[in-house]
Amino acid sequence: MTPDQPTAARAADLLAALPLSARGTPAAYLDATRRTLRALMERPDLLDGVALERRPGGYARNLLFGGGGISVWAMVWSPGARTAVHDHHCACCFGVWRGAIREVWFRPISAREAVATGDATRPQGYVACMMPTGPNLHQIVNPGSAEAISIHVYGFDHAVHASSVHREYRVVAA
Ligand SMILES: [Fe+2]
Repeated sequence: MTPDQPTAARAADLLAALPLSARGTPAAYLDATRRTLRALMERPDLLDGVALERRPGGYARNLLFGGGGISVWAMVWSPGARTAVHDHHCACCFGVWRGAIREVWFRPISAREAVATGDATRPQGYVACMMPTGPNLHQIVNPGSAEAISIHVYGFDHAVHASSVHREYRVVAA
């Protein structure tokens, strides 16, 4: 790091460049967002100076960047936190910045019901991207005893949509 290129400023520049890549093809957008997230996962001071909201037993969303149809959030996962089983109306990319989370995947069997198809632990540094046209029905859980933080890049304008969630599903036995 050099004095004229502080890490925090470069991270902000990376986030601000995301809306430009969103104007390209979906494949180009996903490639650019993966690269950005991988770079952000390497920055221990990424959230320095950010007053993160936390919810004991749950998760809290913290807006880091919004503009050009893209919003970037730091999700703080307290021990025991879990989302509803949900899919997305927009592109959803995320990276695990601190700790580890568990991701459970589902297959829809109706507009409101889904069956589990697999699950995996996502360790620190893990990066994934989903498009709304592909499989994107999942649940995120923090089953551990330590807090986890992930960075999410969504293809939605936070001033227009409340969240990236399209629908929530009830889980039924396979
Ligand atoms: Fe999600």
